[in-house]
Amino acid sequence: MVNTEVKLCGVSLKNPVVPASGTFGFGVEMADSYDLNILGGISLKGTTRDARYGNECPRIAETPCGMINSVGLQNPGIQAFVEQKLPSVRKHFNGAVIANISGFSIDEYVECCAKADAAPQTDILEVNISCPNVHGGGLAFGTSAKAAAEVTRAVKDVCRKPVFIKLSPNVTDITEIARACEDAGADGLTLINTILGMRIDIRRRKPVLANRYGGFSGRAVFPVALRMVNQVAHACSIPVMGCGGVSCAEDVIEMMMAGATAVQVGAENLRNPFVCKEIAESLPAVMEELGIDSLTEIIGII
Ligand SMILES: Cc1cc2nc3c(=O)[nH]c(=O)nc-3n(C[C@H](O)[C@H](O)[C@H](O)COP(=O)(O)O)c2cc1C
Repeated sequence: MVNTEVKLCGVSLKNPVVPASGTFGFGVEMADSYDLNILGGISLKGTTRDARYGNECPRIAETPCGMINSVGLQNPGIQAFVEQKLPSVRKHFNGAVIANISGFSIDEYVECCAKADAAPQTDILEVNISCPNVHGGGLAFGTSAKAAAEVTRAVKDVCRKPVFIKLSPNVTDITEIARACEDAGADGLTLINTILGMRIDIRRRKPVLANRYGGFSGRAVFPVALRMVNQVAHACSIPVMGCGGVSCAEDVIEMMMAGATAVQVGAENLRNPFVCKEIAESLPAVMEELGIDSLTEIIGII
């Protein structure tokens, strides 16, 4: 029997497989499709202080081996998240519940993180400073080491649970931002969020997305994500959740060898809603084939 268990800042995950924020709703939407308890954790849809409808449609564009989205943080707001979404996912799931928080100001991050942290259902906070699809927020904090450190410090002041900062790949040197977050007290880092992209409808002579640009993700970005995870794992000593282009158990192993302790699966859920279940089920056989007894042996070996 191989051992798939991993630990993130003292939180135990039965395996490293975690659906990424924004691609698995609030978890409960998938509870009728399969038993969620096969998953190590779930990162819930990004939540802001107030409810948001998100951006105008069209807000999804297809692209070979990936997609571009400009959903724009559609969510019911922190109050509904804490009062409805967290209790309802807990009814179906006993693994690690990750509350993903976004904001347009430090005050908003602080207020939302404090509320999510105080909720008994939350195990880990994931602070998204990397959303490319909203103006004046998200990414503005993730592309400056100083701003990233400020958000981290402010959020850490009001949280007792582990805080992971979710980093943007839309920067020249991701290790500079990663180190600033670690120095400011982050307990862990999640990377990568989406890469800024664009498609044009050449017949209509217009951008495909109403928002013009959007976040590119899916299988095509895997090598970029892997490289950044590896760079950050070497630059920092806090745990990393690797994310970007993961679509099978072999990708999970590769991400972990690059330095990830847990691995998130995003756009692939939209292509195959059962992919996280399939990865969790196939992981032990792939480990056996590769002679891996325990996943903790391979974290960051490259
Ligand atoms: C439709 C969609 C919505 C997303 N919404 C969020 C979000 O609310 N918060 C967040 O931190 N990341 C969000 N992301 C980013 C993903 O969590 C993930 O970081 C990114 O897509 C890279 O992983 P992937 O290549 O496996 O999709 C979203 C991605 C997609 C495709």
